[in-house]
Amino acid sequence: MHIVILGAPGAGKGTQADILCQELDLPHIASGDLFRQALEKKTELGLLAKSYMERGELGPSEIAIKMILERISLPDCVSGCVFDGFPRTLEQAEALDKALAEQGKSIDKAIYIQVPRKELVKRLSGRRICRSCQTPYHLMAAPPRVAGKCDKCGGDLYQRPDDKEETVKERLKVFFALTLPIVDYYKKQEKLIEVNGNLGIQNVAEKIISVLKPFVITEL
Ligand code: AP5
Repeated sequence: MHIVILGAPGAGKGTQADILCQELDLPHIASGDLFRQALEKKTELGLLAKSYMERGELGPSEIAIKMILERISLPDCVSGCVFDGFPRTLEQAEALDKALAEQGKSIDKAIYIQVPRKELVKRLSGRRICRSCQTPYHLMAAPPRVAGKCDKCGGDLYQRPDDKEETVKERLKVFFALTLPIVDYYKKQEKLIEVNGNLGIQNVAEKIISVLKPFVITEL
């Protein structure tokens, strides 16, 4: 089972991917997290990605593709995974389809979480992330039980540098120019599911699970 979660920055891709992965017992594959981990470890790739991320631009596609294909070749992905933040361009979507097809696999469904622009900006400005396990929180909508600490692992919460107002504007521009065409790509393949993301976190999760149920979730 391979599921792609699509949506603008702040739409709730990471939040919903986490919930879905728990429900389906699948690994959560987030390209942004892989870039940030590389940055944290100060690898060559991380240092290269830093400037793109700080500007709110996409990192080089060939690196994103390589990183993702390496990640999904690990044993925990043998039964599938949930992709969050990947693919982000048509080139990435085609590369993913090709790599999966070579193993006799394919994307089952792409879920597009739609949220109005004003709400996206509000979500990103209040977001806090766990430095250890990357779980997202929100100061108002999803606060941690203890301020500044992750509920799951006790790690410290921090604000992502690319959640600054100017960078958010650029990330939104990049999404509408480069990533939105992927919505049509999956629509043409009859794999697209559009979900109203402008609801509470649990309501969005219930919606996603209920629309996926007839297609792929036999065990729910
Ligand atoms: P990435 O980390 O993928 O960031 P993004 O796509 O901009 O998405 P976000 O993580 O900001 O938002 P999200 O939709 O996951 O929302 P979340 O669940 O956290 O990418 C960062 C950078 O890495 C890119 O700019 C690029 O440079 C590089 N990169 C990554 N992938 C790449 C690729 N494939 N190719 C090239 N470059 C790549 O939620 C946001 C907030 O809202 C949280 O605080 C959350 O608690 C809250 N929230 C969530 N849902 C709700 C709700 N329903 N109601 C109220 N609040 C909610």
